[in-house]
Amino acid sequence: MEFIKVTPEYKPYIALIELNRPKELNALNLQLMGELRDTLKALDDNDKVRAIIITGNEKAFAAGADIKQMAGKSAVDMLKIDQFSTWDQIRKTKKPLIAAVSGFALGGGCELAMTCDMIIASETAKFGQPEIKIGVMPGAGGTQRLTKAIGKAKAMELVLTGRFISGEEAMQYGLVNKVVPVEMYMYEATKLAEEIAQMSPIAAQLAKESVNRSFETHLDEGLTFERKNFYLTFASEDQTEGMQAFIEKRKPEYKGK
Ligand code: CAA
Repeated sequence: MEFIKVTPEYKPYIALIELNRPKELNALNLQLMGELRDTLKALDDNDKVRAIIITGNEKAFAAGADIKQMAGKSAVDMLKIDQFSTWDQIRKTKKPLIAAVSGFALGGGCELAMTCDMIIASETAKFGQPEIKIGVMPGAGGTQRLTKAIGKAKAMELVLTGRFISGEEAMQYGLVNKVVPVEMYMYEATKLAEEIAQMSPIAAQLAKESVNRSFETHLDEGLTFERKNFYLTFASEDQTEGMQAFIEKRKPEYKGK
């Protein structure tokens, strides 16, 4: 991997992915996104991983899609490159994804953070969809996910002005789970991942899938989907173990079976 660093056994059951193009503020070029897609697929298939943290560095989570790579392209070039099929595959990651964001999370960087399931932000984080300032608009889900996360009025403001919001503001609007001092954001993200990694990975996968379904469907259909996944947890040994451990007043030992 050239543009990301992967630590599959960062902590027990937790993998860490670090975006690693620091000079370019982790601008998301096609190769980086391909590496991220392949890594997430491998981690999804790795039974020793139950939660994944994606981070950048203190200065930048990611400052967006690589403008220099896109600058000379025509609409037909962009259509043929089809960069968003990579994003679609990333979106389908089954394991819980936590974005640990410090510094710039702009354009595709904000969209990547929002593709994750939860965001822990440092006080220095800056979120925004500044594509409008370079004559385009968000293309990796920004108009949809931001609107669902923070509501129409604020999403319109960010998408139409390109202005940035701080981690604190992002927290107030419901975009991030927690905002902490910069020296704490990796610690908090790790703590959250550790809590999730203690759960049954089967239940976590089915629960994640069900929450995400709420964005894509009507309530009635969503409830049916949720119910089926709920029943499916009863096909796992982890369900027997979890309930038995509760009754026996002990800590459950989940095996992902
Ligand atoms: N693409 C390519 N290169 C980028 C980049 C990007 N998105 N963001 C930063 N860089 C590069 C800069 O060109 C610069 O490279 P050089 O040293 O070779 O000149 C380097 O990273 C450092 O950047 P700056 O000197 O600009 O750093 P700064 O601290 O002065 O400013 C910034 C930081 C405000 C984030 C500024 O870099 C910036 O505005 N970046 C672009 C943000 C943006 O518009 N993102 C949206 C991209 S389009 C998109 O994402 C589409 C989509 O939805 C998929």
